Amino acid sequence: MIRANKHFKKLQSSYLFYNIGLRVKAFQQDNPAANVIRLGIGDVTEPIPTACIEAFHGAVDDQGVRATFRGYGPNEGYPFLRKVIAENDFRPRNTGIQADEIFISDGSKCDCGNFQELFSPGTIVAITDPVYPVYVDTNVMAGRTGSFNDGCYDGLVYLPCTPQNQFKPALPDQQVDLIYLCSPNNPTGAVMDKTCLEQWVSYAKENRALILFDAAYVDFIRDDSIPHSIFEIEGAEEVAVEFRSFSKMAGFTGVRCAYTIVPKACMAYDENGEPVSVRDLWTRRQTTKFNGVSYPVQRAAAAAFSDEGRLQVRALTDYYLENAKIIRAAITELGLETTGGEHSPYIWINAVEDDWAVFDRLLQRASVVTTPGSGFGKNGAGFIRISAFNSRENVMEAMTRIKQNY
Ligand code: MLT
Repeated sequence: MIRANKHFKKLQSSYLFYNIGLRVKAFQQDNPAANVIRLGIGDVTEPIPTACIEAFHGAVDDQGVRATFRGYGPNEGYPFLRKVIAENDFRPRNTGIQADEIFISDGSKCDCGNFQELFSPGTIVAITDPVYPVYVDTNVMAGRTGSFNDGCYDGLVYLPCTPQNQFKPALPDQQVDLIYLCSPNNPTGAVMDKTCLEQWVSYAKENRALILFDAAYVDFIRDDSIPHSIFEIEGAEEVAVEFRSFSKMAGFTGVRCAYTIVPKACMAYDENGEPVSVRDLWTRRQTTKFNGVSYPVQRAAAAAFSDEGRLQVRALTDYYLENAKIIRAAITELGLETTGGEHSPYIWINAVEDDWAVFDRLLQRASVVTTPGSGFGKNGAGFIRISAFNSRENVMEAMTRIKQNY
């Protein structure tokens, strides 16, 4: 008899954005004339930078010529891409990250979901609350939690992020082994400063814990004093792994390309307390379960770091940040408090009432899709998240409708 993984039963009925998608579909079926504007899931709308598209085309053509054709690429990514990432993202920020510590993949969602496989079933996991649901659900699937009670999974350590702590997680009051941090944060849009990250790195060192640092939104930071990488913190390479993505910075949500930085110095420990290289474990996992990102996609991604590519990426992220500014202004006019949207494409709004009720009201009355905060955790209740990923025209129209119908 084939037995289902019993841990899946503990999961909430469906993945947050899938659930929202079903509600929106039902609304559209009932209201076929409604012009729905989606500011829910953070999916980009604007075209991929020209520099990337030209490189993409060129590499597709290479595949049609015997002399330049390529089959399987290196599992961990082509050297040309790993090199430009190290040179552009890490060298200027005074980190020691080398090209061979960068692993190219087809998405940060997959990488941050898969990474927990490297660690023992008994690993004690800490997550912020609210949180990107992938970190939680993948640990539930792996059997690291008990059942879901009163908005929390037994066995997980929750780090509340609320207006009282400016949405910055405090250190846990018990020992944890694996810590998920995200800055700029999804969903709150808050950023972690250097002092805050230093505390986490020293906690991880003292407790021989590991930090999984999700930096998928780093390209939206507009203040140089905010850390762009956890590896700007001294010693972080021993206790942290970082996730980055081309999705939001270069419009690759449909193309798929990301990268994960696993430093050589980063260690986990075996049952005797002996160090085990996390980079070796990840290499072993990826070479078994993953066959690399396609050559044209990697060429397109590398072009994001060319002189013109960098300008175009900057213009693209500036465009969404201007949307974020418009959203913040409109919501502030309604008398509601917001956070995020300055160094992030997400605006986190204290709605001071039931968030699913606000979600339904905005959908029914304004035909605007948002994300209810409780979908990100218990401390998200009463908040909604609005994403700045849409055209200027749609964002302005959505804000007019929200102001009229809130
Ligand atoms: C979000 O809306 O939170 C993101 O789009 C999810 C993702 O990147 O997977």
